[in-house]
Amino acid sequence: QGVFTYDPGFTATCSCDSDITFIDGENGRLMYRGYSVEDLADKSSYLEVCYLLLNGELPNKQQMDAFRDSITHHTMLNESLVKFYDGFHYDAHPMAILTGITGSLSAFYHDTTDITDPEHREVFAHRMIAKMPTIAAAAYKHSIGQPKIGPKNHLDYTSNLLRMMFAVPAEEYEVDPVAAKALDILFILHADHEQNASTSTVRMAGSTGANPYAAISTGIAALWGPAHGGANEAVLNMLAEIGDASQVSKYIDKAKDKDDPFKLMGFGHRVYKNFDPRAKVIRSYCHEVLEHYNMQNNKLFELALELERVALEDDYFVERKLYPNVDFYSGIIYQALGIPINMFTPMFAIARTVGWAAHWSEMMADPKRRIARPRQVYTGYDLRDYVDIDKR
Ligand code: CMC
Repeated sequence: QGVFTYDPGFTATCSCDSDITFIDGENGRLMYRGYSVEDLADKSSYLEVCYLLLNGELPNKQQMDAFRDSITHHTMLNESLVKFYDGFHYDAHPMAILTGITGSLSAFYHDTTDITDPEHREVFAHRMIAKMPTIAAAAYKHSIGQPKIGPKNHLDYTSNLLRMMFAVPAEEYEVDPVAAKALDILFILHADHEQNASTSTVRMAGSTGANPYAAISTGIAALWGPAHGGANEAVLNMLAEIGDASQVSKYIDKAKDKDDPFKLMGFGHRVYKNFDPRAKVIRSYCHEVLEHYNMQNNKLFELALELERVALEDDYFVERKLYPNVDFYSGIIYQALGIPINMFTPMFAIARTVGWAAHWSEMMADPKRRIARPRQVYTGYDLRDYVDIDKR
């Protein structure tokens, strides 16, 4: 029945053409639509990068104003949807809530169901990007038992998110511009990463013609795993467990021990065989953020730097080309901004929503699109006879 390639984990399988993002893993380079992420992190803004990823070009001023207007138009949550949160136990992980709420958007919006219509696809993408901060902030408020705070649309994207997370009713809340800028930079760096596990999951679900909001919720579920976006939470837990520089070599030995399931979280990558360029930007930005908050002697940051130093001198990590990835240092910044650990992966999900939407839209416009349907190598029984239950 034809010739198949056996490729567990798709290490050597290209599933599509894409114009969106390019990774040069050997040299540690990442570009969105031809622009380096370093340049974008330095000069652009998250919303401008969203426009770029969705449309292929940077916007002029008029296009940017129209895009911002459209995003702010969609930030609110329907009151019936807000009631869904009450169905979640107070200690539900915010990623579980995000998966559920996002999937349920598919029951609310019928103006985007024609996935062959570019206008419908655009409204879907704008709505998703606009609503994710509101959805995530409400998940956080639910988890701490505080009333939800709605969006204030005169604020920029990340300021709005910070306010929805940290403001309380009847009290003034001033958004710290340094925190908003730091989040904006982190969001730019997380916005897309070509055919990673969650994006491939969104594409796979979408390839069946599934509702796009439901497809995004599959991406959120895939992102949650510790081998993917959940690594940012796992890194902070790991650093807390290591606790002190004197313990670093013990944990490096554990990571090298094939009988020990422990891995150095935030290290290694399927595509990068060099420093992840995002980790470089975040590491250097850590210094700036920690200095601003008078946290220069942050113990976890010092520990992370020491862990990196020891690992990069160790033959095991050198031979396997294991370098810090995007998740290794991002949690240090999130923590400095007061973002709780269980909200680290939701932050990643908010930022990656544009990548998922851009890939879904690209796939929908691709005349070569086919349902994603991998094959398998069957290793089970040959045909055998059914045996009655009293004879087994
Ligand atoms: N600690 C110790 N050993 C490692 C690590 C690590 N973090 N990562 C890979 N290795 C070893 C692995 O055991 C294997 O060794 P051997 O050749 O002796 O069998 C070798 O390096 C190659 O690794 P692999 O598991 O075949 O690589 P992969 O491409 O299948 O997995 C990965 C990539 C990112 C899942 C893996 O490196 C990992 O689990 N890292 C820790 C989790 C993490 O930081 N994930 C975030 C990834 S970047 C952001 C994102 O995707 O969201």
